[in-house]
Amino acid sequence: MNEATAISSAANSPRAEKSKVGIIGLGFVGLPLAMAFVKKGFTVVGVDLDPSKINAINEGKSYIQDIADGVLDAAGESGRWSVSTEYTALLGSDAIVICLPTPLSASHGPDLSYLTDACHRLYPLLQPGQLVIVESSTYPGTTREVVKPLLEKGGLRAGEDLYIAYSPERIDPGNRNASLLSIPKVVSGVTAQCLAHVQQLYEQLFDKVVAVSSTEAAETTKLLENSYRFINIAFINEFTEICEKLSLNVWEVIEAASSKPYGFSPFYPGPGIGGHCIPIDPLYLQWKAEQFGASSQFIKLAQQLNDALPASIVNRLEKLLPADRPLAGARIFVYGITYKKDIGDARESAALAIVHELLGRGAIVIYHDPCAPSVRLNDRTWMHSVELTEEELEQADCVLIGTDHSVMPADFIASHSRLIFDTRYAFKQLASSKARIVRLGDNTNTAAQ
Ligand SMILES: NC(=O)c1ccc[n+]([C@@H]2O[C@H](COP(=O)([O-])OP(=O)(O)OC[C@H]3O[C@@H](n4cnc5c(N)ncnc54)[C@H](O)[C@@H]3O)[C@@H](O)[C@H]2O)c1
Repeated sequence: MNEATAISSAANSPRAEKSKVGIIGLGFVGLPLAMAFVKKGFTVVGVDLDPSKINAINEGKSYIQDIADGVLDAAGESGRWSVSTEYTALLGSDAIVICLPTPLSASHGPDLSYLTDACHRLYPLLQPGQLVIVESSTYPGTTREVVKPLLEKGGLRAGEDLYIAYSPERIDPGNRNASLLSIPKVVSGVTAQCLAHVQQLYEQLFDKVVAVSSTEAAETTKLLENSYRFINIAFINEFTEICEKLSLNVWEVIEAASSKPYGFSPFYPGPGIGGHCIPIDPLYLQWKAEQFGASSQFIKLAQQLNDALPASIVNRLEKLLPADRPLAGARIFVYGITYKKDIGDARESAALAIVHELLGRGAIVIYHDPCAPSVRLNDRTWMHSVELTEEELEQADCVLIGTDHSVMPADFIASHSRLIFDTRYAFKQLASSKARIVRLGDNTNTAAQ
């Protein structure tokens, strides 16, 4: 560990000119990164095992909200962008970036199978002088202890004729205020030479590159960032329940606290955590800590609180229904099913967990989400978005706002609904509407209007 403390300018230093970059995994992380490389003048080849993604890209159809179809068209027209389901397309790349999922296993530990599968496919194709960067979120030690031995199987040696780096992805899907390249990029290498190579490449792409001394430090940086969010989201939702009991508007309290110029970073109430990072990364950290006889009580408690939130939201919704309308048999219309606004990702979504809870308690559930036409409920069942119509809203005993996409027609929803349970505080301007609007964290205004 900690070998990469200095950047050498030895003969095998990285190439400065624009080069060819391969991206493995063209999902929420890989596709935007690929487009950023193309825009900067690199030649980029993307590899994904999902033929439907490759076909969509070849037809100029983006499946990621942050990437407009026009961006894919422009990339195609540049002549420097191609995609394939075959790893052999990566031959001749100067750098290869791995952007693959790192989910949880059945026992809630790390599942590195996507990463190891890619390494097995990749090592026979590696050529001397190539740089391989892992971007997937993972536990400290993965790059050095898991990725490096697999990539070296073909005979190349890290730091000598192969460069292996780790750089955690910090993309914030759906956030139009934080462009990918303006987010400082943490980089690391398994040797000083590996660090020099990744630094050289990413300095051509990102506005700011932050080098750390080891791949373990970079891996842990990402886990710290997401554990911090995991814990604070649990805390603010617990704090919200306290404010509700005290008949305080938690949003007002958070806004006032946010006026403090130092020492306070606001977190906001909501239906719970979601996505492929926040619910998973802290458990990777916990798993690794446990290998060393350590453990985070904060992560344990936050996990308990976060896991309990969907049921707690449904309990609150149940209390809002008229006395003669039990939850079993009630018709609940969910607006927004993805884990956050303006993206199509419903993985680990809190709104989806709420749907499961509602269905389990006998409610009739339908949903509308402009970003997610269908979502998988379990291995066999899919649920499909219905149209957002007056009739659907009028028939619903309650409209639950799970995700407040920017295109949400709040006036329309408020005009045709009887009861709205707003878990996102998205209806704050509409207190005069006919619908009874109940905002999570604000029970100062819950009487029928
Ligand atoms: N989604 C985010 O907001 C986000 C943010 C920061 C970090 N991350 C991390 O980045 C990593 C990737 O996440 P994502 O959200 O982009 O995942 P994703 O599921 O959106 O994309 C992964 C892609 O890899 C493809 N794939 C799977 N196995 C493959 C293989 N062996 N070879 C080639 N392609 C394969 C899939 O078809 C998919 O298109 C994860 O570790 C995640 O924790 C994600």
